[in-house]
Amino acid sequence: MTEKRKYDIILFGATSFVGQIITGYLAERLPPERWAVAGRNEEKLRTVLSQRDASDTDLLVVDANDNSALHTMCEQASVVITTVGPYALYGEGVVAACAETGTGYVDLTGEPQWIKKMQDKYQKMAHQNNAQIVHCCGFDSIPSDMGVYFLQQHAQQEFQSVCSTIAMRVHRIKGGASGGTVASMLNLVKEAGKDKQIKKQLANPYLLCGENANKVRQPTVKKACYDPVSGAWIAPFIMAAINTRVVHWSNSAMAYSYGEDFRYEEAMVTGKKRKGAMRAWTMTLGLGGFMVAASVSWLRTLLEKYWLPKPGEGPSEKAQRQGFYDIRFYGETRNGQRAVARVTGDRDPGYGSTAKMLSECAILLASMREAGTAPSGQFSPASCFGDALIPQLSQHAGLRFEIV
Ligand SMILES: NC(=O)c1ccc[n+]([C@@H]2O[C@H](COP(=O)([O-])OP(=O)(O)OC[C@H]3O[C@@H](n4cnc5c(N)ncnc54)[C@H](OP(=O)(O)O)[C@@H]3O)[C@@H](O)[C@H]2O)c1
Repeated sequence: MTEKRKYDIILFGATSFVGQIITGYLAERLPPERWAVAGRNEEKLRTVLSQRDASDTDLLVVDANDNSALHTMCEQASVVITTVGPYALYGEGVVAACAETGTGYVDLTGEPQWIKKMQDKYQKMAHQNNAQIVHCCGFDSIPSDMGVYFLQQHAQQEFQSVCSTIAMRVHRIKGGASGGTVASMLNLVKEAGKDKQIKKQLANPYLLCGENANKVRQPTVKKACYDPVSGAWIAPFIMAAINTRVVHWSNSAMAYSYGEDFRYEEAMVTGKKRKGAMRAWTMTLGLGGFMVAASVSWLRTLLEKYWLPKPGEGPSEKAQRQGFYDIRFYGETRNGQRAVARVTGDRDPGYGSTAKMLSECAILLASMREAGTAPSGQFSPASCFGDALIPQLSQHAGLRFEIV
């Protein structure tokens, strides 16, 4: 059991686009004295609290570059939620402070090279100090990570064997991007362009699995093609680059419970026949074009200036309410037994749904710490929360996990 701290949760980055949604969510979910918001600008924080009906909630003024303020913040919380990103630019101080002070931590990073750096620097300290550093607790990568976990639990019960391959297919999705997400993606492309080591890291599906990771060749959907698994055309899925790394990380962290030869890939279903094929090629070319433009400095500047959302901007409340996703996991055991799981979420994936997932991870982590059941170290969602996260998300965050 961890000693009781002043707050169960501190939300660092309450003024971010996603942080504002989380503020409204936590105001409905927790008593005001049990949580607080933090950020670098007091006036902006006050505005967010009053706009989100959370004026009774405490606020702390903390800059991500001020290590002593970060330390003081973390000592007061059982769990810190951080949405201050791009994490590769602003995130390290919070991880360090949580690892030093034995605090729980959840984030929304989708930057695998940064997670790897944090593992190398803070994994041991987090473990020694009874801290829990849990990455990727939003749309990347909870539906993928927990969808695979859920299907493997089912396969184990039904077939007494896990699936040796799982293909994840995004069947339907509706949502938009925020300035913070775009900034993180552009920064990742920029870092990879400048540093060959980072480029190499990003290409490694086992990046987060440690030195002794298994090295089975992993399939990757790189362009439009017909997919016998879903019986439709598919295109590359932009989040696969982080989700697949997180799923393999969970497997290695859970003593290879999915098997040492486990294969996993992700793609977007675009439809059947000619229309599906055309959509798949349009998406492949669009994604390829975006990546090329993002890697050329002057084109990147133009994209940022005229086309992409700016920090603090994102989908409207109506778009968040109307958003949703429907993702399928097609699994097959070594003996050819098959099962399909479906994960659905209400609200748009990146913000409405992500805000609820991240908040519920923090609430669950705080209760695990209080009960003395939280492991210590650095984790993917599945390897930290395991079975407990599925009912938490199903009851509170609008997600459904089912076998179809
Ligand atoms: N995994 C997922 O599914 C998912 C989904 C959505 C977002 N994300 C990630 O979540 C992060 C937030 O996205 P967003 O669009 O909400 O971001 P955003 O609106 O651009 O907000 C950035 C936040 O960082 C704060 N910040 C910047 N520098 C700071 C500093 N030195 N000290 C303290 N605070 C500082 C900003 O504070 P001010 O308001 O004071 O400027 C603001 O609160 C991004 O990294 C994004 O990639 C991930």
